[in-house]
Amino acid sequence: MKKNEAKERIIWLSKAINEHNHRYYVESAPSISDFEYDLLLQELVSLEKRYPEFKTDDSPTQQVGSDLQSGFQTVPHEYPMLSLGNTYNEGELRDFDERIRKALGNKPYEYVCELKYDGAAISLLYENGRLTQALTRGDGSRGDAVTANVKTIASVPRELNQGNWPSRFYIRGEIFMSRDGFEQLNRERIERGDNPFANPRNSASGTLKMLDSSEVARRPLDCYLYALYAPELPAPTHAENLAMAKKWGFQVSPHFDVKPNLDGVLDFIHYWNEHRPRLPFDIDGIVIKVNRLSQQEKLGFTAKSPRWAISYKFKAEQALTKLLSVDFQVGRTGILTPVANLEPVLLAGTTVKRASLHNADQIALHDIHLGDSVWVEKGGEIIPKITGVDRDMRPSDATPIRFPGTCPECGSPIRRAEGMAAHFCPNEMDCPPQLKGKIVHFISRKAMNVDGLGEETIELLFREGLIRTSADLYRLTLADLIPLEGFAQKSAENAIRSIEESKKVEWSRVLFALGIKHVGETIARKLARAFPSVDLLAAATADELLSIDEIGPRIAESIQGYFSNEANKRLIQEFKYAGLNLEQMVEQGNLGSRLAGLSFVISGVFERYSREQLKAMIEQEGGKMLSAVSRQTNYLLAGANMGPSKLKKAKDLGVSLLSEDEFLAMLA
Ligand code: IVH
Repeated sequence: MKKNEAKERIIWLSKAINEHNHRYYVESAPSISDFEYDLLLQELVSLEKRYPEFKTDDSPTQQVGSDLQSGFQTVPHEYPMLSLGNTYNEGELRDFDERIRKALGNKPYEYVCELKYDGAAISLLYENGRLTQALTRGDGSRGDAVTANVKTIASVPRELNQGNWPSRFYIRGEIFMSRDGFEQLNRERIERGDNPFANPRNSASGTLKMLDSSEVARRPLDCYLYALYAPELPAPTHAENLAMAKKWGFQVSPHFDVKPNLDGVLDFIHYWNEHRPRLPFDIDGIVIKVNRLSQQEKLGFTAKSPRWAISYKFKAEQALTKLLSVDFQVGRTGILTPVANLEPVLLAGTTVKRASLHNADQIALHDIHLGDSVWVEKGGEIIPKITGVDRDMRPSDATPIRFPGTCPECGSPIRRAEGMAAHFCPNEMDCPPQLKGKIVHFISRKAMNVDGLGEETIELLFREGLIRTSADLYRLTLADLIPLEGFAQKSAENAIRSIEESKKVEWSRVLFALGIKHVGETIARKLARAFPSVDLLAAATADELLSIDEIGPRIAESIQGYFSNEANKRLIQEFKYAGLNLEQMVEQGNLGSRLAGLSFVISGVFERYSREQLKAMIEQEGGKMLSAVSRQTNYLLAGANMGPSKLKKAKDLGVSLLSEDEFLAMLA
């Protein structure tokens, strides 16, 4: 590389890394993986070494990673938040054990082995059994107070059960997101057109540092606690204190174990290295701690980490193999995912033949060609991914990977959304995987919850030509299902029953089930509240939609687009015939008493609710319905086009008039 090229590259890399830092720390939406980030950083480090004249003081290689961020109060840690010594091999673990043995003068000792959760460290302060503060690790000596955010996490107790807890103590642990929670969150982000998070750890730490706690509350954060700090702890060993913390109400991982010696520790490591893909969350290693607190104290700390603990990090297993071809899979949202077909290779105990290539940006980043020798890696994830290329092994006839111009499923021209990494097939209404995907979404648990059907059954019913849209489900009969492979009388009855049951699902979930782009669960709930029926929503103007909290132009446009589409109009009509809840039902729950002793007359036409619905609300709240205005009437609930005689009578008798909004305010 020439000198001026190196200079250009250094400037480009610095800018790119700074942008990625911003996305990671501030926007909580990194667009590349840690591995790729590290590659950029490594390249910058080595270029700066070769050309020190181009290295600047504010280069990203010179900045210490810290999660401190504006918008939060920064608070000193009473006990510094140190890191752990790392090792990747068993030899170093033996050295660690040897150091411990010597330092403890050959006295007996035991270890506690714990999982090393891959999330964001948190330090919680409890005073008199109440959570009063939550700090991030920050720079180790000061952290950001994210108390309001942490209080939204269900598994973090705000108040402790009765117990022998110290009156003031800290408990530390890891905030993380399960893989399922992470995937669900990303599906919603993709639907909304936001960049997906790179991995569960980034999404957990990003979420923890959001300024809007109500958004944090909606995200599936979880927390395992693993260390207590107080001048005096109730028990003499770490394991006993953890067990007590559990009784006080903390979520302590069930996967910790006391081991009498290094062999026991190694067994624990081997077990979890093999079984970690089965955990519902990511771990990146094992933490080994000396169990007895008095021995921990004796061993003490180095400047950076405790001498009594170490972490054994799992190596992501890698293998080099040949990229034979690339398939392009079309998902339910129409997004094309490139999947690599590989020369079969043994990796972490299984033969790998396929791996994800993510998207066009990823392919460009590694400059991957067909015929290349590629590195495949299996992290905690089930699907292996391609993480690099050995360029020296590139055959001379290797050709770059090209995205197809047309959809491999339906032949429609492929589009690439502006600013997005993804290519997609725009043929929502006819592209088979998109049609099937819509139905799979429709029946999913958080939508219509048709639990007698699964993805494979949808696939089968689609293949057999029995369904093409979600509305077709409501026409299925036992006679359709029984002859199908995998169905018997009982399972067919189950399926039909659960389809029937889904008719009771409330309007907001039906709206979510429609699968309108950018309308996730939360937005659907907000829309359903503002528009209590599908007809009102379909007729909503852009201004009406935009006046609702969190609805921006993109969502408004998507909703209007959906309801102006003829096929969708037909679908809604079919849902109406089937008897789905396409309007807000008035809950028939416990009788309230907010309108007790008051009597009402309803007249005219209303914007949000039908007269029947309003009547039900009045009665549910203990109010009384009268058919005509009289001296006994307290309120006349007046809609549009009300008869003039009723109005006159009400005025003459001094009966108060109520608009629909005023009435709803009375109930709020
Ligand atoms: S103990 C003084 N136990 O790993 C050390 N840490 O590299 C106290 N971590 O910042 C940490 N699982 O965020 C401990 N079971 C576990 C852990 C764990 C994950 C994280 C923690 C810490 C980092 C150290």
